[in-house]
Amino acid sequence: MKIVVVTGSPRKNGNSFAMTDAFIKKAESCGHSVQRFDAAFMNIGGCHACETCYKTGKACSFDDDFNIIAPALLEADAVVYTMPLYWYSIPAQIKGVIDRIFSLVIGGKNVAGKKCGLIACCEEEDATLMDGIRLPIERSAALLKWEMVGEVLVSGVFKAGDINKTDGCKQAEALAEKFF
Ligand SMILES: Cc1cc2nc3c(=O)[nH]c(=O)nc-3n(C[C@H](O)[C@H](O)[C@H](O)COP(=O)(O)O)c2cc1C
Repeated sequence: MKIVVVTGSPRKNGNSFAMTDAFIKKAESCGHSVQRFDAAFMNIGGCHACETCYKTGKACSFDDDFNIIAPALLEADAVVYTMPLYWYSIPAQIKGVIDRIFSLVIGGKNVAGKKCGLIACCEEEDATLMDGIRLPIERSAALLKWEMVGEVLVSGVFKAGDINKTDGCKQAEALAEKFF
């Protein structure tokens, strides 16, 4: 299976990256090929809603790094998003990628049938606070006809490294085993 992983944290040594690394290592050991895009370290803006998608040959007429991710998304059998919770919502760093999946739809590309996973974390001790991530990801997946394979939502982690006091990385490995 070709799995595209898109991360949203700007913290390279952070909690969601640790879970991302655990997920990828396990997914690769299960025989999947994984392409990872760290959105926070790429130049990716929001959707301009110009609806000129693919008119220039590339997914988006505003030619930034989303156009590097778009072909991989089209090819992927599965898409996994990983991110921290920012103000009860999806961080801006990865939201641009999610918004611009619009271009694949408007461009008439067949994106249906992919599998999808979510890995997220937050400081506060209540995983339901991540509903602001979970619900839009689940609803977008449903709209795109993607199957949600699983979610890892780890609360109570603030400082980089806090994830090691939880079973978050183990859960991320278990999520990888659900892709087949
Ligand atoms: C801008 C910003 C906003 C945040 N908003 C929330 C929040 O609304 N609720 C929460 O529980 N934690 C919040 N946090 C804490 C992060 O979700 C938490 O530190 C997480 O473990 C960071 O993941 P990372 O190490 O992968 O970046 C926020 C952190 C930042 C930097």
